[in-house]
Amino acid sequence: MTVSTSLELDPFKLAKSLSGLNFIAGEFRPAMSGKTFDVRNPATGEKVATAPFSERADVDAAVKAAKAAQKEWAKLPARNRGKLVAECGRVLADHVEELGRLLALETGKALRTESRVEAGVLADMFVFFGGLASELKGETVPFHPDMMTMTVREPVGVVGAIIPWNVPLLLMAMKAAAALVAGNAVVVKSAEEAPLTVLRVTQIMNKVLPPGLFSILAGFGPECGAPLVEHVDVKKVTFTGSVETGKIVYKAAAEKLIPVTLELGGKSPMIVCADADMEKAVAGAIAGMRFTRQGQSCTASSRIFVHESIHDEFVRKVQEKVNSMVMGDPLDEKTDIGTIISDGQFDRVHSYIKLGRETKGATEIALSAMPTDPKLEKGFFVQPRIFTGVTNDDRIAREEIFGPVCCVIKWTDFDGVIEAANDSDYGLGATIWTTNLKMAMDATRRLEAGFVQVNQNLVVQPNLSYGGVKASGLGKEASLESMLEHFTHKKTIIINML
Ligand code: NAI
Ligand code: MG
Repeated sequence: MTVSTSLELDPFKLAKSLSGLNFIAGEFRPAMSGKTFDVRNPATGEKVATAPFSERADVDAAVKAAKAAQKEWAKLPARNRGKLVAECGRVLADHVEELGRLLALETGKALRTESRVEAGVLADMFVFFGGLASELKGETVPFHPDMMTMTVREPVGVVGAIIPWNVPLLLMAMKAAAALVAGNAVVVKSAEEAPLTVLRVTQIMNKVLPPGLFSILAGFGPECGAPLVEHVDVKKVTFTGSVETGKIVYKAAAEKLIPVTLELGGKSPMIVCADADMEKAVAGAIAGMRFTRQGQSCTASSRIFVHESIHDEFVRKVQEKVNSMVMGDPLDEKTDIGTIISDGQFDRVHSYIKLGRETKGATEIALSAMPTDPKLEKGFFVQPRIFTGVTNDDRIAREEIFGPVCCVIKWTDFDGVIEAANDSDYGLGATIWTTNLKMAMDATRRLEAGFVQVNQNLVVQPNLSYGGVKASGLGKEASLESMLEHFTHKKTIIINML
């Protein structure tokens, strides 16, 4: 089966051409059973492609090819591997527009504000990790003058990577780029809601990489994800998704005694102090809530604690700004906000909006405007919502919604707000907004989170370790340390020269 790697800027055509296929052992293949499932455009509900319903036999084929390819790959000098991975990044950079459009089509994330940006970061992540190859260094240890004692970093073997649908390109890149440079082979299981763009990425990367080293399977959790985790030749699993599924993956990995990295979401606090730069804080709240991504982000600043003295002004300004954002066709350049990914997530978000309405003392504010184009009438569009008058004990302030719904909570006492910010099962991101350096420093020390920012709300960046504490997960991604800790093991060698 062949699909051209020439640029294809019509995402509908590209989706069709990728229909029903996995990329295994250097080639496109349908699932062995021949079974498929539908891929829909969330902006219209229309079917745009199918994807293979992969099962254990498909997983076996991908892992077998990966195991064989990994042996040769690990023998290459590290810099040669790095050069090839960086080359993947450069080739992918030529496809940013194409990948952005396909991603917008299958996920409903607006092309201009989200999907094109993500495709750019994907390419950058491969270039970044490719450059780190020479840093796969060990140490010499002063153990004994007549014994040359050293450590070396070795790859773990075949890595199973399970990714979700919200930022599939970035999340795949953080896992795959690091694992490959470190000398591993990678088998990815894509999310059932977004199998197409990552498949295209895999095809493009296979122009550069040896066959079998990097494969991708589409399918569902129990039938495809679970056999990948359980496979005897998979020696490491890296997972991003829900806490519930993360625990299942962790247990299955424990049975095999293999290491796992888990990135599991959050309910990240944003603390706005009375002396904060109001305009910056308002822009930071909108960026932090990822309203342009319909709030579908693990680091979404979904609990915003605002000092009582500026609360009403802050809410009014957020409201004004989000009201001026355009919700509509994700592929339209004018669109700021696209759709929710699927009917299931759409219903889940609405169940939380209902919960917000039923929360004692809460006031609902609906923002922006629904699209009016009749073509989009079946799309999963949701007006962003703010709930004010909420307390940190309310369910709506405690559970991850993964939609454009945020809670704004008033505060007066600094110690009290830090305590409330930390009173959460999660600990992924946290931000504080103040012009008082002492308060800022104090908060950065006391906030229980993996990624704490003062007066800004940046997303994941290459070279910055990213990952949470508490129920937000285990381990870090996106940095040199993450590559060394999670995709290599350290071997100690002693050469006795006596
Ligand atoms: P999920 O955690 O069930 O799915 C993530 C990935 O895991 C998908 O590829 C899925 O097929 C796979 N998977 C599911 N069951 C599996 C199993 N038994 N073994 C191996 N792999 C399995 O998340 P889902 O259902 O897409 O979303 C539900 C909620 O999870 C969201 O509303 C959100 O709260 C949270 N979530 C968090 C994400 C994050 O970035 N941390 C990303 C996606 C979802
Ligand atoms: Mg699930």
